[in-house]
Amino acid sequence: MTVVINLLLLSTVTDAICILPPELRNTEWIYKYTKPDDNQPITTTLRIQNTVLPQQSSVRFNALGTTMDAWTCISNLTLSDTESVAVFKSDTSYSDGPFGGNRRLYLCMKFTKVTDNLFYFYLLSDVDNTILPNERVFNPPENSIPDDSDPLCSTFCQYTSEPKIRTLQKTGTTDVVPSDAALCTPCESPCEEQVIACPDLAPVNFTTITAETGTNYQDNITYACNTGYELKSGDLIRECLADESWSGSPPVCEIVACPDLAQVNFATITAETGKNYQGTITYACNTGYELKSGDLTRQCQDDKAWSGIPPVCAYSTVAGHAFTATLPLGYTPVSIGSPIKYTLINSASIGSEYNAATGIYTVAKPGIYLISVSMMSGLLTASHLTIRKNADVLVWLYTNNDYDMASQTININLAANDKISVVVNSGSSLFSVYNTFSVLGPIE
Ligand SMILES: *[C@@H]1O[C@H](CO)[C@@H](O)[C@H](O)[C@H]1NC(C)=O
Ligand SMILES: *[C@@H]1O[C@H](CO)[C@@H](O)[C@H](O)[C@H]1NC(C)=O
Ligand SMILES: *[C@@H]1O[C@H](CO)[C@@H](O)[C@H](O)[C@H]1NC(C)=O
Repeated sequence: MTVVINLLLLSTVTDAICILPPELRNTEWIYKYTKPDDNQPITTTLRIQNTVLPQQSSVRFNALGTTMDAWTCISNLTLSDTESVAVFKSDTSYSDGPFGGNRRLYLCMKFTKVTDNLFYFYLLSDVDNTILPNERVFNPPENSIPDDSDPLCSTFCQYTSEPKIRTLQKTGTTDVVPSDAALCTPCESPCEEQVIACPDLAPVNFTTITAETGTNYQDNITYACNTGYELKSGDLIRECLADESWSGSPPVCEIVACPDLAQVNFATITAETGKNYQGTITYACNTGYELKSGDLTRQCQDDKAWSGIPPVCAYSTVAGHAFTATLPLGYTPVSIGSPIKYTLINSASIGSEYNAATGIYTVAKPGIYLISVSMMSGLLTASHLTIRKNADVLVWLYTNNDYDMASQTININLAANDKISVVVNSGSSLFSVYNTFSVLGPIE
């Protein structure tokens, strides 16, 4: 009585995970097979309940004195509309000694439905000689009873010698197993599992596949964002799931950006290609300033930091500047609206703020400056000159006649980069070294 109650409990527990073909269930079948040990043909009956072969079933063995004749289906695999595999586990266990542990037997049945009244099946295991009668059962080694959920094919249904066909026929029916040769082959492989395959994945921008085990069930594809890119959303590892879809969503890798750079004093940005990975920014120290430390070109790196350190531009080492230049000997023709180019720079001048090619003095260090200009007009020309700061006229100079002279001196507060020049407003030539342009400053 106790045994029966246990069986009912067991079958309740396993009902959920094993589903036999509906026509097979709750029916008694005429079971014909050939005994694997002595090739004797056997005709008997096999009663199949919902998911069990109940006690006193015709699948009955003696394992070291223990009778094993009740079986419960623990898992099934549907191969097609007519083919399925079911694994049954013995309800009782046996032991082969005090240290042998509990051992159970398993039947792996691969069924094919011919009609509602006729099935044939193979027992997919090799013949086990430790049970009587010797039969095709899976008898796991001592102390290694597999999990009920272990894969059918790799665990329970392995065989090397070819099993023979067995039939299950309803009493009173006459359907016959067709004689197709194919039916005599148990199966190409005991593991004709349906392959669960996921679709190919589209290439993902800005990523590299770093590992790929395949595109079947439980295979994984692992991506890495390319150098200079970072994961914004999605998943870098995708696994092929049982429903033939990939887990997660495609990774979205975006280019990294570096932070805004603080303004650099006394420097100008001369070139800029953006703040994203590998973008560069190039500075130049303003006129009169020079690079004391740091880097004039900085590049956005993979780690979202700029290469190098900020440039430091400081006044050039000369503390003050003193410069005087004159026109050369003879007449110098001038053009209206242009700065006069005083080309003879006095050799005692300090600093390089004056550019003789343009006639422009560019202030390096801000402060108070003294600017002085003298002029002598050339032959037969009255002339107007102006001293200018950038475009602004500061003072005028005028001479009326041949070899007249005029001069102006101004003291003025100048900012860095101010441009001082002497511009012609009228006249056609100036005469010789009497024309001077001097700048002194800054005056501390
Ligand atoms: C077991 O059989 C049922 C009914 O045919 C089917 O829905 C289920 O997928 C099968 N289980 C497996 C693992 O094939
Ligand atoms: C991948 O990059 C190409 C070219 O930049 C673009 O046209 C396409 O939309 C991108 N694909 C995705 C999924 O963002
Ligand atoms: C794929 O990844 C999952 C989850 O990390 C893991 O369980 C599984 O074993 C992996 N598959 C392979 C084939 O490595």
